[in-house]
Amino acid sequence: MFNGVFDATIIKRACDKGYVEIVLHNIRDYAPGKHRVTDDTPYGGGGGMIMKPEPIFNAVEAILNIDIPNEGYQSLRSQGYPPIILLTPQGRLLKQPLAQKLVAPHERLLLICGRYEGVDERVRRYLATDEISIGDYVLSGGEIAAMALVDALTRLIPGVLGDEAATAKDSHSGGLLEHPHYTRPAEYRGHGIPDILLSGHHAKQEIWRRRQSLARTLARRPDLLEQAELNEEDRAYLESLNQPPPEEDNHSNH
Ligand code: ADE
Repeated sequence: MFNGVFDATIIKRACDKGYVEIVLHNIRDYAPGKHRVTDDTPYGGGGGMIMKPEPIFNAVEAILNIDIPNEGYQSLRSQGYPPIILLTPQGRLLKQPLAQKLVAPHERLLLICGRYEGVDERVRRYLATDEISIGDYVLSGGEIAAMALVDALTRLIPGVLGDEAATAKDSHSGGLLEHPHYTRPAEYRGHGIPDILLSGHHAKQEIWRRRQSLARTLARRPDLLEQAELNEEDRAYLESLNQPPPEEDNHSNH
């Protein structure tokens, strides 16, 4: 299920060029016993199946070539071992600043995809160093979430996109949504494009892009404005958008 995504897209190019290396591990391969059982019923009832701790701990020990002490993997973090991220709807919400933080300092990340109804709590407590959610909805497993995370991180690695300025302007990068984009034809099914974009006036176009970005964020995601990097001009423009429309003149003389 990962190969379709990792063998296409920007991720494939990043792997081919050596910017990232992705290694997939099947937790089942680390499950003890002839039947390689990875899940079991929950203690205390409640229904559903829970992923057993042993295959997951075994997998990490094999992958990192370590013995995890009983007090937990976290105690090894200071020795330079990589973060272990559990993908779960209970985790920290993935947002662009978190993606940027993960890419910058961590050369290696281990991602654990939960499946079924849940993962034994000891995986959270004694193995994972981070728990990340990609949104407030429940997927059937962590795989799609892991792919989303890998994609978001890969495109932030310097060189991967070949145009650093493009990532800097991405929606959410400066904490704002992106301005609208247009390409040829200038008229399509009777719909034109804003005149400013045909004017060749680069300075004015830049102002237009910034204002569109601000207006769009105000209209769609006003919550983002609280954290966004705004200058005085931005604030003044937003203020002008927040003004109520001028009063209608009610004093007409009949
Ligand atoms: N696993 C199931 N749902 C998820 C979500 N929203 N984010 C991360 N992992 C998940």
